[in-house]
Amino acid sequence: MSAAILDGKSLAKQIREELAVEVVDFIRTTEVVPTLAAVLVGHDPASEVYVRNKRRDCEIVGIHSQLVELPAETTEAELLDVVARLNADAAVHGILVQLPLPKQIDETAVLEAIDPAKDVDAFHPENVGRIMQGRPRFLPCTPSGVQELLLRNDVPIAGAHVVIVGRSDIVGKPLAGMLVQRGRGGDATVTVCHSRTADLAAITRQADILVVAIGRPEFVTGDMIKPGATVVDVGINRTDVGLVGDVEFASAAKVAGRITPVPGGVGPLTRTMLLVNTLTAARELTARVGE
Ligand code: GUN
Repeated sequence: MSAAILDGKSLAKQIREELAVEVVDFIRTTEVVPTLAAVLVGHDPASEVYVRNKRRDCEIVGIHSQLVELPAETTEAELLDVVARLNADAAVHGILVQLPLPKQIDETAVLEAIDPAKDVDAFHPENVGRIMQGRPRFLPCTPSGVQELLLRNDVPIAGAHVVIVGRSDIVGKPLAGMLVQRGRGGDATVTVCHSRTADLAAITRQADILVVAIGRPEFVTGDMIKPGATVVDVGINRTDVGLVGDVEFASAAKVAGRITPVPGGVGPLTRTMLLVNTLTAARELTARVGE
């Protein structure tokens, strides 16, 4: 192996420590405790783990969390009522509706119903639009984690060719929008590849920074990487041999200059960015009350 490891786990810990200081300071000056409401519908085991971990992270940095657990048979109207109640609750600053939702519920309708000022996932169209215009309120958690990982490891982004494999609304599309903006953490030349891309390897081999987020275990192999490139693996796939990313680590690490491990790469940062957004939401909403 020649690649240096981009250690997301220790970076996330460092950011949480910085955040904990900011939270204490915020509570002391405002007497408001930043609060996240997590809504979990049904009993998807992975979602239950994610929400439990997110709430534990909140506790570590001093953010209060509420859990709203709803049965799998919950109707869309019932969930919209819960969202409306949380929107109106001045003690709640961030709302997270864990995805996926049961099939009888239209996810888009629910995500659009969340008050954009409390939309700590940054999935609401208003927040997506703001990101594209370069005036974000919140940055979506996974793309923000990727950008922070690059910035704090001094990976040059300005002028770099970033190739993103995957065009999801949660990762690929917003990340492209963020990296192409002017200024710090931006100014990249971005190519977004997807399932219909012709000769994918010819494009990934041009990447100075290759971000892979397609949800296919070990899809990107060493021969698809330019020597010395920075490889960011967003994938988390549960397989018979355990957790693996979207990048075949062993072959990729021989070619890349820097690479994220799975687990311990992007994942811990994604969770931490949710906390950053919750504090941001608490700050903005509390300032509004004073206006
Ligand atoms: N399910 C998988 N990832 C996410 C996420 O980032 N936010 C929410 N709300 N649900 C998810």
